[in-house]
Amino acid sequence: MRIINTNVKDYLFYGGISREEYYSVRERIWDRNRNILKVTSLASAGMALFFLIFNAFTETGLLLPYAVLLFGSLLVTLALRLTGNRYRRISPALCYVQMLLVCVYATILSTQPARFATPATSVIVFIALMPMSIDDRPIRMYAFMLGESAGYLLVSRFAKSPEAFGLDAINIATFCLIGMVFYAVVCVRNVREIWQSVRMEKIQSDLINSLAEVVEERDENTGDHIQRTVGHVKTIIAQIKKTDPYRISDEFSKNVVLAAPMHDIGKIKIPDHILNKPGRLTPEEFEIMKLHTVYGGDIVARTMGGIEEKDYVEVARNIALYHHERFDGTGYPKGLKGTEIPLEARIMAIADVYDALVSDRVYKKAFSKETAKQILREGSGTQFDPLLAGLFLETL
Ligand SMILES: [Fe+2]
Repeated sequence: MRIINTNVKDYLFYGGISREEYYSVRERIWDRNRNILKVTSLASAGMALFFLIFNAFTETGLLLPYAVLLFGSLLVTLALRLTGNRYRRISPALCYVQMLLVCVYATILSTQPARFATPATSVIVFIALMPMSIDDRPIRMYAFMLGESAGYLLVSRFAKSPEAFGLDAINIATFCLIGMVFYAVVCVRNVREIWQSVRMEKIQSDLINSLAEVVEERDENTGDHIQRTVGHVKTIIAQIKKTDPYRISDEFSKNVVLAAPMHDIGKIKIPDHILNKPGRLTPEEFEIMKLHTVYGGDIVARTMGGIEEKDYVEVARNIALYHHERFDGTGYPKGLKGTEIPLEARIMAIADVYDALVSDRVYKKAFSKETAKQILREGSGTQFDPLLAGLFLETL
């Protein structure tokens, strides 16, 4: 027999979406959480500093708790900055450290005379609880707030200044309980909103990938070019991760693999007689063909502009726009040189060219693997990033 209904469980444990849905958007939730925490930890440090200075003149004897709060909040801010995008998993833990810090401090305050403690504590508790508005697990928030309310009442009851118990402690506990309901509603709303926007982005991304497949079908030369180049891109990324010369994040790797199928999306605007011409293109035709990079960058920017994951859109745009740039600066459309070419485009260039070399095209037969490797080797440093070309050649 089920003790609680599945839907209630989903609301309590996963913010109103199912377990599987929750795990698919967990990182996005952490990111939003992280942004709120950046603001609250700084605000908390600011408030502590203000009260520290204020108390220095009023002699309430609360200098130490304020100093600890200030120091702790600054440490959380610093940890957020240092961990960056590489260790996002730490964000929820930092969120609880910050909240715990403020709540322990507020508990100390609740032992003080009511005339001072209530307003100061209320302000700081409100700031402390803000990150909960995006907490991924309402059940934890309930536990936290109930524990905190009980803590206020107990500490106030047995503190040295029993006169503080009463209105002051009850005020704070009530505030916590009201906050619990309020933040639970906001939390569920936020988690569901993130889930919906991720779903919309998936639809957008599927649409643009279908468009890429349409382009592939129109371009009679390419066969399974898209799938194969994605495979080469994955190989290069795995190689980079092994030796870590560019220190890429998991997020970046995922974005490059997802965006790779769109590299030739701009070909949708190239006329058939040029795209499928069996012989060599004339210089004029080649100029038109070159425009597929600019068209591609433009299509990605316009169709994916609304997507929240800006890094992904940027990677997709760079791949479409710069995958024909050459390391020596003689490529197109911009003639970028060396590391001016975004890393994702340098990766794509190798995957794209290698696949073109080993495939049949209407204007040429497939080269053997050995010949293709030789061409890659010769292009290393001129056409391709030598480091990446070397890493890819190791796998062939
Ligand atoms: Fe291309």
